[in-house]
Amino acid sequence: PAAGWTAHADVVVVGSGIAGLTAALRLRRRVDRVLLVTKGTLSSGSTVWAQGGIAAALDPDDSPAAHRADTLVAGVDLCDARAVDVLVTEGPRRVRELVALGARFDTDDDGRIALTREGGHGADRIAHAGGDATGAEISRALVARLEAVRDDPGIEVIEHALVLDLLTGPPGPDGAPGAVCGVTLHVIGEGTRDGVGAALGRAVVLATGGIGQVYPSSTNPAQATGDGLAAALRAGAEVADVEFVQFHPTVLWLGAGVKGQLALVSEAVRGEGALLLDTDGVRFMPEVHPMAELAPRDVVAHAIVRRMAATGSDHVFLDARHLGADFLRERFPTIHERLASEGIDLTTDLVPVAPAQHYHSGGVLTDLLGRTSVPGLYAAGEVACTGVHGANRLASNSLLEGLVFGHRAAEHVADHVAGLAGGGTGGGADVEPVDRAGDAALVAATVRNRIQRLAQQGPGVIRNGPALATAAQGLAGIPTRAHAVPGVVAAPQTAEWETTNLHQVAVVLTEAAAMRTESRGGHFREDFPAREPSWRRRLVGRLDADGTL
Ligand code: SIN
Repeated sequence: PAAGWTAHADVVVVGSGIAGLTAALRLRRRVDRVLLVTKGTLSSGSTVWAQGGIAAALDPDDSPAAHRADTLVAGVDLCDARAVDVLVTEGPRRVRELVALGARFDTDDDGRIALTREGGHGADRIAHAGGDATGAEISRALVARLEAVRDDPGIEVIEHALVLDLLTGPPGPDGAPGAVCGVTLHVIGEGTRDGVGAALGRAVVLATGGIGQVYPSSTNPAQATGDGLAAALRAGAEVADVEFVQFHPTVLWLGAGVKGQLALVSEAVRGEGALLLDTDGVRFMPEVHPMAELAPRDVVAHAIVRRMAATGSDHVFLDARHLGADFLRERFPTIHERLASEGIDLTTDLVPVAPAQHYHSGGVLTDLLGRTSVPGLYAAGEVACTGVHGANRLASNSLLEGLVFGHRAAEHVADHVAGLAGGGTGGGADVEPVDRAGDAALVAATVRNRIQRLAQQGPGVIRNGPALATAAQGLAGIPTRAHAVPGVVAAPQTAEWETTNLHQVAVVLTEAAAMRTESRGGHFREDFPAREPSWRRRLVGRLDADGTL
């Protein structure tokens, strides 16, 4: 779409979760002008919904090596060990910096950060805030810091800005792809910018979060429509591990017809001792895994799905009643309140739960500095695939990843921009942008439910070849604007762009899930239920001209 306005900066950061805010605040110290664009408000997005906490080896009896070992086990032999090293060794320092910046974590009687345990962790290493409102507190602290510098001409924020596409400069003399030099945006709402515009910079950091809305039900907020992943795919960036989707085992189950963003019942509730019971009241996890309810998340989610099938039910129960009413109210105020709003008392009732989409372990492939395969394009947080999660993310490693790699990306981008200023090469504000996606490729917002149904039936929690083939066929059959009768389509709106992104993500996810003929972590194939040593490798790809991997 034609840009109605243009904004200029050294670096454009897209997204205001923990990764985007960390990157923007860090960059502001190092470059002259940062532009932070975000689809909702500064404090909307997935980070604020994070309950359990942020994992880091902060206890003197714990160590980065132990955190590393647990992360590698959860990732089922597919993590990038170098990225995990970075995560666990830099993590504690970054968390302490968050505290210095004003984030108030819960403390023990001695005033030290209180640490709890979650699935897959062999030590108490989950820092939490407000009991079960960790993400909200981290977001509050980062946004407060940003608000404090709002008047600083070195940083501009554009809210309600949906990123449409990446813009690239002309290809190099040898045909090498042109450097990313900005994004097109659709801004809705109030503010100094409105409608479709372009934000130009010498580098772009994508921190757009996850893909939850690809599925009918997810713990992710409505904004999680895979916009960054889809834009990076269209720009020719390499993606990795996209088949690995994490389904959280304990999401509040309110009936088969209830869809959209569902309430999470944090793993920390099991960390404090809550048990899983089937609908006959039988505890089933001890026979599945030695860590029982605190087994890695994929193990628990699959065990629940199998138990639901065995008992002919569409949910199981989480039982926290024995933990005591006072403790539960104090430790889990958000969950207690949310359940109460549905007429469920965490202290006296069994809580109906079932697995739902929660996190995308794969994403835009980056190196340890946040660089993608496209020059000038960086990614951090859930949209990125640094390799720290492998086939299955360890609980509470996601906020940590956003923090550590948001910081790293910012440092490297700042060096990169400084190098460009000196050498004067690469994509800059004076480069004519190239728009890669045309309106003709858009799909109608009305097909969103169809995409979600196909994603659930194909690359859902339990997958198989025929179902994936059917889903791929269904997704391929979704018409674009190119199929529309000329003259009858209105100007595209946000919902249409988002649905196009959901479609793009569902296509590559289904394709990657069909390719991986084994089961590992967040990818479970009932037709290939075993882990295959020959599949101990990552699927890395980029979009072909036909729109598939
Ligand atoms: C939770 O609180 O259970 C979520 C933690 C996570 O996803 O890492």
